[in-house]
Amino acid sequence: MTLPQTMTHVDLVAAGGPENLRLVAGRVPVPKPGEILVRVAAAGINRPDVLQREGAYPPPPDASPILGLEISGEVVALGSGTTGWRIGDRVAALCNGGGYAEYCAVPGTQALPWPDGYDAVRAAALPETFFTVWANVFSMAGLRAGETLLVHGGSSGIGTTAIQLAWARGATVLATAGSAEKCAACEALGARRAINYRTEDFVAVVREETGGAGADVILDMVGAPYFGRNLAALAPDGRLSIIAFLGGAKVTDASLAPILSRRLQVMGSAMRPRTAAEKQAIRDDLLREVWPLVASGAVAPVIQSVLPLARIADAHREMDAGAHIGKIVVTVG
Ligand SMILES: NC(=O)c1ccc[n+]([C@@H]2O[C@H](COP(=O)([O-])OP(=O)(O)OC[C@H]3O[C@@H](n4cnc5c(N)ncnc54)[C@H](OP(=O)(O)O)[C@@H]3O)[C@@H](O)[C@H]2O)c1
Repeated sequence: MTLPQTMTHVDLVAAGGPENLRLVAGRVPVPKPGEILVRVAAAGINRPDVLQREGAYPPPPDASPILGLEISGEVVALGSGTTGWRIGDRVAALCNGGGYAEYCAVPGTQALPWPDGYDAVRAAALPETFFTVWANVFSMAGLRAGETLLVHGGSSGIGTTAIQLAWARGATVLATAGSAEKCAACEALGARRAINYRTEDFVAVVREETGGAGADVILDMVGAPYFGRNLAALAPDGRLSIIAFLGGAKVTDASLAPILSRRLQVMGSAMRPRTAAEKQAIRDDLLREVWPLVASGAVAPVIQSVLPLARIADAHREMDAGAHIGKIVVTVG
């Protein structure tokens, strides 16, 4: 099959609002050694894409400047030495950038098989949140069956994945969200109790729901304003996993004392700057531990809306508005 030399992709004309995202013509990427070239069928939108659009999260120097961190599609070419995939395979892949495009080159070690019975949209909605939740909640914070997880931002793309995965693996899940509708969605996905943080104190509810013990693990994306209250909501030997600072990064009003008295651990990570070897290890864990749960339907992406790539600015406007539950996905081609 002869591949085209040019493709349509999204260009960020300048850091700023969604109107700065435009469709342009560009060159089809050439897969490097170890990479697969994917003809993209759909791409997921993630909050880090919004930060990149605003100029607050520049891509790593070796990554594509094109936005887009996850795709589904068909393998159409292999870089030299690439193993594990064949032309024609259908994949769901975590990209290092470049997903908002007709073609995207990704390391073969960051791709997973497109699950049976999935369409392009559902397959594209998997990689970013599953890689992130696995790495932070299970690998780093070590959530175990029988423990209690508190998920902040429970209705987000990340939150909806964390709730389902933790519940499917035998944890008790509590979640926070900003409306009654979002709370109901969290409970439908497996949260035993969702807490509307606008009307309730999450520390008090977590204590009540755990018989006074507290949560064993907290997945947090709010940051500084929650730091002290997160420490207060953790059980002895509890682990706080921070993946973002939507409410700010500078802590000014919290005491570190509970870390010592209750042996708490505070950790955090960002997926994008991780090494290829680390991403491969997470991919391997997902394949072994999580893909069977995806195949059985025990966990599934929650899709809020689907738009064509030509409406990428509207997809970002929807994410900016923040009323969505789960994922926003664009179809390509
Ligand atoms: N560290 C990593 O490797 C990594 C990887 C992927 C994503 N992330 C981060 O994880 C978070 C969730 O990502 P996502 O793609 O799932 O996002 P998303 O679907 O847009 O969800 C974000 C949610 O966070 C809640 N929120 C709380 N405070 C907020 C604030 N100040 N501004 C905006 N939203 C706020 C909102 O729900 P309420 O209405 O309930 O407040 C919102 O729906 C983002 O912060 C993202 O940057 C981190």
